[in-house]
Amino acid sequence: MGVTSPLKGQTHSRSFITKFLPYVLYALFPVALFRFYFHPFPFPLSTTDQIPHSNRIILTSSSSSPPPLSFPREEEIAYETPCNYTNGRWVHDKMGPLYNGTTCGTIKDGQNCISHGRPDLGYLYWRWQPSQCELPRFDPNTFLNLLSHKHIAFVGDSMARNQLESLLCLLATASNPNLVYTNGEDNKFRRWHFASHNVTVSVYWSPFLVRGVEKSKAGPDHNELYVDVVDERWGSDLDHLDMVVLSIGHWFLHPAVYYDGGSVLGCHYCPGLNHTEIGFYDVMRKAIKTALEAIIERKMGSGNGIDVFLTSFSPSHFEGEWDKAGACPKTEPYKEGEKMVEGMDADMRTIAVEEMEAAKVNAKQFGGLRLEILDVTKLSLMRPDGHPGPYMYPFPFANGVQEHVQNDCVHWCLPGPIDTWNQIMLQVLRRWRRGE
Ligand SMILES: *[C@@H]1O[C@H](CO)[C@@H](O)[C@H](O)[C@H]1NC(C)=O
Ligand SMILES: *[C@@H]1O[C@H](CO)[C@@H](O)[C@H](O)[C@H]1NC(C)=O
Ligand SMILES: *[C@@H]1O[C@H](CO)[C@@H](O)[C@H](O)[C@H]1NC(C)=O
Ligand SMILES: *[C@@H]1O[C@H](CO)[C@@H](O)[C@H](O)[C@H]1NC(C)=O
Repeated sequence: MGVTSPLKGQTHSRSFITKFLPYVLYALFPVALFRFYFHPFPFPLSTTDQIPHSNRIILTSSSSSPPPLSFPREEEIAYETPCNYTNGRWVHDKMGPLYNGTTCGTIKDGQNCISHGRPDLGYLYWRWQPSQCELPRFDPNTFLNLLSHKHIAFVGDSMARNQLESLLCLLATASNPNLVYTNGEDNKFRRWHFASHNVTVSVYWSPFLVRGVEKSKAGPDHNELYVDVVDERWGSDLDHLDMVVLSIGHWFLHPAVYYDGGSVLGCHYCPGLNHTEIGFYDVMRKAIKTALEAIIERKMGSGNGIDVFLTSFSPSHFEGEWDKAGACPKTEPYKEGEKMVEGMDADMRTIAVEEMEAAKVNAKQFGGLRLEILDVTKLSLMRPDGHPGPYMYPFPFANGVQEHVQNDCVHWCLPGPIDTWNQIMLQVLRRWRRGE
């Protein structure tokens, strides 16, 4: 680690620079090295102060490389500090989405808003502008190149599926996905192969990440969760996975009985059963912990490692009754400051962030494991206009406005705001590839 732009702001004649600069650098290098070992981050902090609206930090060397033989060129040494995509605002964007409902064949009916007759299309022309950096437009070829010969899996509830279908549509603009496997009712387990880059993409239905029995007509009238046991429907495939994107949340709001270590831990909203109400926050935390621990345990010995993303909670936007027209009627994003991440949305997000941080620390001792939170709560909260609403069904108002209309104010139209989640994920993958 070295000195930042040593000549910045100073005026020296060209001859001085060419003549003396190498000697200056040789002299400074040991000092810089010393400071790096004993004060890990002294220089970048002062650099960011100097360049307030940029996230570029210039370093003259790294601690592991030998002293430079000549003055290093800037493009070799510049790298970007990780961009924080959490905060920002939605800005108008003339470009619009990469794909539409007619060009992508893998959109779940209920989320194909345009083909279901949603009349306003303004919600397609916005892009997320992070506070301190830029979020480049999604480039499908870059994604496919980065993931070539790899297997990526989306694991979780219907939001995981929503995000997966967004990614498939984005990638399909560059390369054709072949559906190579399908299982379970309503396509809950599927796999595609992009032959062009040998990229495999899977989706696993696992709304709790841990073992669970879902409420059903034939089974219990509540969910049952085993918070200390990973769901082997995806866990047993970890050997074959190079990257997983986990996404859970909304299913934890439903009535459930929780088991831990074989005995009942408590329940959430289970009148009539003699169990203690314990809410769902601690349970969701435990489920995430169990899932991340299983990944780390099973992959730490393997040579090829794994990349793990956890998508933070995606807020819903019901304003009125869910079965009345206009349950999420907005047609534009919220403006900056109009809506804060608070209440349950904030608590759910915090649990994901904290558990991911803890897992990062835990994983650090093993090579090859990279974990990152995909912190989409704020940017999603700001998009009340991005849900299917009544257009979860085709042409809901073809016969006039009915008294009861089912609305989906939870999932996202495709294309739509959820494409941004994958846009951010690609930037994290690019950062990792650069070795940062
Ligand atoms: C990004 O910003 C959010 C909100 O300000 C903060 O909670 C989070 O810790 C930041 N992330 C990193 C990696 O600094
Ligand atoms: C969808 O995309 C195709 C191909 O790019 C284009 O021809 C068509 O007009 C688009 N449809 C809509 C509704 O934007
Ligand atoms: C494709 O990728 C898989 C890993 O996902 C690998 O096992 C296989 O050898 C690759 N095939 C080719 C032809 O490179
Ligand atoms: C409910 O649980 C308590 C404590 O486990 C027990 O003492 C009680 O008998 C139970 N009541 C019923 C109706 O099962």
